[in-house]
Amino acid sequence: MKATATAPANIAFIKYWGRKDHKLFLPLTTTNSMNLSACTAETVIEFGVSGGDTITITDNTGNSKEINNVPGEKDGMLYTTLDRVRQRTGVSDYAQVTSKLSFPMGAGIASSAAGMAAFVAAAYAAAGDMDTVNDREELSREIRLSGSVSAARSSHDGFTEHLYGETHEKAYTVQIAPAEHWDLVDLVAVLSPEEKKISSALGHSLADSSPFMQARLDYLNGKPELARQAILDKDFASLALLSEIDTINMHAVMMTSRPPAFYLSPASIDIMKNVISWREDQGLNVFYTFDAGPNPHVITTAAEAESVRKLLEKHSEVQFVLENHPADGVRITSHG
Ligand code: DP6
Repeated sequence: MKATATAPANIAFIKYWGRKDHKLFLPLTTTNSMNLSACTAETVIEFGVSGGDTITITDNTGNSKEINNVPGEKDGMLYTTLDRVRQRTGVSDYAQVTSKLSFPMGAGIASSAAGMAAFVAAAYAAAGDMDTVNDREELSREIRLSGSVSAARSSHDGFTEHLYGETHEKAYTVQIAPAEHWDLVDLVAVLSPEEKKISSALGHSLADSSPFMQARLDYLNGKPELARQAILDKDFASLALLSEIDTINMHAVMMTSRPPAFYLSPASIDIMKNVISWREDQGLNVFYTFDAGPNPHVITTAAEAESVRKLLEKHSEVQFVLENHPADGVRITSHG
């Protein structure tokens, strides 16, 4: 009744913001991404403990926090997910959960994708339901129901796509290409950490209040397919263009929702301008993308990663740079 799973976070090229259905966590568009080798979570779940469920998260600096059951928030979804796993598998015991992140917890690096993917896989494995774990499409549906579409993309290896679907059955993840397909590098330039004022969970429900949401959806028509093709063709310039436009459009929606969500900081904007100049003036293969936070994800090729890393490290607001390569998706590493 115990299992360990590891899973990577991922960086999306065409991003998920806003939902068609807030109960089933159905996104409004197909999204695609690359798994990140240096941003991972390892989660151990053991059923059969007494006194109630407990969930603890620790990071690579030794910071540790107990997760409370807050209904409606992402933390609370972990407890709801344990209930769902118990209900689907017939296990009735309480669970002890410990999760370890490979990166600092408070640094604003998307932690939920790695954490949620490892959590759901470990929970089903610990409950003895390996059919759900081994059926990656079904696993991705279960991860999505735990509240995170980005986490659902970490169900498969390498470059992946979460498909738009009008029902629970039709919204799931598929692989675009394995990790070895393309040696892209994602350099996460970590800026001063700041607590998010609007969580992604709340942000998704506010997206519809932006007058630009429909414009973003109209624009997105056909774009996930173009991004998928750019990945398959290893067409850096096309992926760069699609991805930068998508990030800016998403942040325009965030900033124009009511209340507005401003995730970017002045340093984020400054680095965006630098990245454009490194590409246009210095001829580097480089583009930026941002999740719901200020840290730029600067995408480049393995050949140019060292030069781009040095440029990023020179920026006075960059605390450190995390270097990610395409990675495998969720794995069960021990079981039984
Ligand atoms: C902006 O609810 O999936 O990263 O931010 O990690 O809590 P967390 O996850 P989620 O929404 C974030 C979506 C996004 C874009 C994306 O990854 O598609």
